[in-house]
Amino acid sequence: MADRGGEEGGGLWGGRFSGGMAPEMEPLNRSLDDDFRLWPHDIEGSRAWARALAHAGVLTDEEGETLLKGLDRVAARLREGVGGPVPDEDIHSLVERLLGEAVGEVAGKLHTGRSRNDQVATDLRLWAMERLDRIDDLLVGLGEALVTLARTGVDPILPGYTHLQQGQPIRAAHWALSHLWPLLRDRRRFQEVRRSVAVLPLGSGALAGCPFPVDREALREALGFEALSENSMDAVSDRDWAAEFLFAGSLLGVHLSRLGEDLLLFSTREFGFIRIADGYSTGSSLMPQKRNPDVAELVRGKSGRLVGNLTGLLTLLKGLPTGYNRDLQEDKALIFDTADTLELTLPAIAGAVRTARFQPAAMERARNAELLATDLADILVRGGVPFRKSHEIVGALVREAEEREVSLSELPDSVFGKHHPVLANGAARAAFDWEASVEARAIPGGTARASVEAQLEEATRRLGVG
Ligand code: ARG
Repeated sequence: MADRGGEEGGGLWGGRFSGGMAPEMEPLNRSLDDDFRLWPHDIEGSRAWARALAHAGVLTDEEGETLLKGLDRVAARLREGVGGPVPDEDIHSLVERLLGEAVGEVAGKLHTGRSRNDQVATDLRLWAMERLDRIDDLLVGLGEALVTLARTGVDPILPGYTHLQQGQPIRAAHWALSHLWPLLRDRRRFQEVRRSVAVLPLGSGALAGCPFPVDREALREALGFEALSENSMDAVSDRDWAAEFLFAGSLLGVHLSRLGEDLLLFSTREFGFIRIADGYSTGSSLMPQKRNPDVAELVRGKSGRLVGNLTGLLTLLKGLPTGYNRDLQEDKALIFDTADTLELTLPAIAGAVRTARFQPAAMERARNAELLATDLADILVRGGVPFRKSHEIVGALVREAEEREVSLSELPDSVFGKHHPVLANGAARAAFDWEASVEARAIPGGTARASVEAQLEEATRRLGVG
């Protein structure tokens, strides 16, 4: 039988109905499979509500105590698992039914002045605060892993890319840290989401507020929220925090995907700058030599569903009339999936980064002297040649090296001198020094050792780790 039957006391809203719910409506109506995980928060919110009702004189102290003890027993039962299929529509009806089994008719007083609309909104926010704290820890974990890898990459010099073509040399640490700063911005974004989450809807009822003088401020304090919702109609249907959460999750997903892509590319035979540990790679069932960096591909793949969850939620919210609408039941699967996906991917990618090893010999093999063409132009600039002109001169030198089928650094001194006197008599040679090139960029945010070390120090400080 469907969750109805007000007369039997099993359902939440059966009084005005005759007959049971159509069998094909039942599975559509039911959200228990999705929202069962909210039970600890449903109990927590219900405990606070029972206290608030007793405080407001709606319940006697004794009734309040009975409900609190009863809710403890319900929690103990749920902790063990309900064991098999249950008839209830959602977690709120399940908790209330179990409370009835635990304490009898007085259980029916708990829902006074409350609606599942403000209840589910409260439960979800309680759940989100907990998960956001965990995601913050995991973000710090990945940040630490990048810092650990970066510390091993201060000396090795990597070709830096734009358009995936070799551009200028950088320290390998600079590359690793380039993936850290987006994560620190993600962290700030999630912290802002948490502030949006920490607004208490409880006391809003179905839409018009609670007619009993419950102390919402005390509820806020007891449940660990930072503020009270200002408008009961808005409060029951506000899922802005969820959209913000799914956006923050999507953007983090995009960042992880880009990190994954770099790890993938850099661990190929063609690049070979980094080696992913065996524990994060898989083999092929057919090709014996294969060692695939699946961690990076899976993380890249998971970012698609994170973006999908955001799109799904925004589409769900668009066009809803004021107040609670049942469409909102669909929010949970999306919100939960983003949290689950992040908690699945963050530790794995963190482990892969922490155990990855830079391969300086491969970096050296891959570096072409053309990476130093800008440094050559800078020699001309220091000799008083306008940069545009220097650019043109070096461009012509690169073309000449190409025609002679030699590397830029292998052109004879006479050729450099022919292109410009500032480059004559071996003066051009100064450009072909990898260390000097990265050291020349000694400003904050640059590639010089001191700049990269300052970056490392700031990153460590921002992560709040030693
Ligand atoms: N299961 C519902 C949800 O997830 C709870 C609220 C139901 N409210 C209602 N008026 N039917 O949104």
